[in-house]
Amino acid sequence: MSANLALIDSARLMKRHKAMMRIGATGRGGVNRLALSPEDTAARTALLEWAVSRGFSASIDPAGNLFVRRSGIDDQAPPVVTGSHLDSQPTGGNFDGVFGVLAAFEALEALEDRLIQTMRPIELVVWMNEEGARFAPTTMGSGAFAGVLPLPEILTTRDGDGITVADALATSIATLEKSTPLARRPLGTRAHAYIETHIEQGPILDAADIAIGIVTGVQGLRQFEIVVSGVERHAGTTPKHQRKDALASARAIITAIEAECADDEDLVRFTVGRMEVRPGVLNTIPSEVVFTVDLRHPQAATLDRLAASIETAARTHAAPCTASVRPLLASAPTVFDPALIGRIAEACDRLGYSRRDLISGATHDAKHLADRCASGMIFIPCRDGISHNEAESAEPEHMIAGAAVLAEVVLGLAME
Ligand code: GLV
Ligand code: MN
Ligand code: MN
Repeated sequence: MSANLALIDSARLMKRHKAMMRIGATGRGGVNRLALSPEDTAARTALLEWAVSRGFSASIDPAGNLFVRRSGIDDQAPPVVTGSHLDSQPTGGNFDGVFGVLAAFEALEALEDRLIQTMRPIELVVWMNEEGARFAPTTMGSGAFAGVLPLPEILTTRDGDGITVADALATSIATLEKSTPLARRPLGTRAHAYIETHIEQGPILDAADIAIGIVTGVQGLRQFEIVVSGVERHAGTTPKHQRKDALASARAIITAIEAECADDEDLVRFTVGRMEVRPGVLNTIPSEVVFTVDLRHPQAATLDRLAASIETAARTHAAPCTASVRPLLASAPTVFDPALIGRIAEACDRLGYSRRDLISGATHDAKHLADRCASGMIFIPCRDGISHNEAESAEPEHMIAGAAVLAEVVLGLAME
């Protein structure tokens, strides 16, 4: 692998990565930086301090998406936007999201080091709540930016403790502004192009020992919250015909959806990631179960059919309880911009990195951006494809490769 043509400073990239690893470190090798938590805010603060020290400007939009800007010669031109997210899963790794932010920051710094003036401004974006782990759904900030998720709905969304996004965001912004003043900007400002670097989060590149994945698209995703309502009664005395057990009905609904999801190709991804059983007591029949469904497939028609089967299962398998289904997020399969895909391939070839095309199994903020401007993604391998796990790991040489390719592509886009 050769990176001798690369613009970037790989030692600085690794140093910044180590600094971010300490913010929200769990002590078990991973991080916990839930969206808008003190740890997420601390990661944003660190980035802002670096940005200010390089003379870049900073702003935030009403959805809490944070922007760091390097001016262009034509500063009114729509910027090239690049970035990812700093929030993590509660037991998250050190690469999901943060790598794309640091690669983008390295691109900005590399241009600054060399005093390269670009025609267009370049903006690094840190999307608010990509993970959806604290506030559902996933990709909240970019969804608001793209107009897919209404801002009032987002701001009134509550976490498990009843705290709204609006309150958590106000606290986070007040903390950020103790060290860095932030200009306010409107949602959904224009962009010339969007490019995001990320670990693959799956096994393809690692197994094939390929440095760069060129992402052709993102599979479709639907997320739901299902509430099953029954009646609280004594566990020991209530006979079968009088039981309205919300957990028993939730089990029946899930089993029915699972049967619909069976596929020989192994392309359907169906996950119940969260379930709350209320009142959650050993000897009381559950009166309410709330669970989430995360459903993914590369083809829109299959996804539509499976999503419809969730409604049907809730209608037909809830008895003697009742069930309601609330859609949280619907994103169709995304196809990235062919010209941008071509540019990434050219940059890999110029820098001497092996590459292959692939579809993203994980979802990303880039899918929302693809509706607004030419968008694309650069993947690097992660060990054994493990992600959403504290053991998540990526090789420095691949991080450097991803950042080097990003810097090349961003520079090319910013010069047009
Ligand atoms: C993002 O983390 C996803 O849900 O794919
Ligand atoms: Mn991510
Ligand atoms: Mn993630």
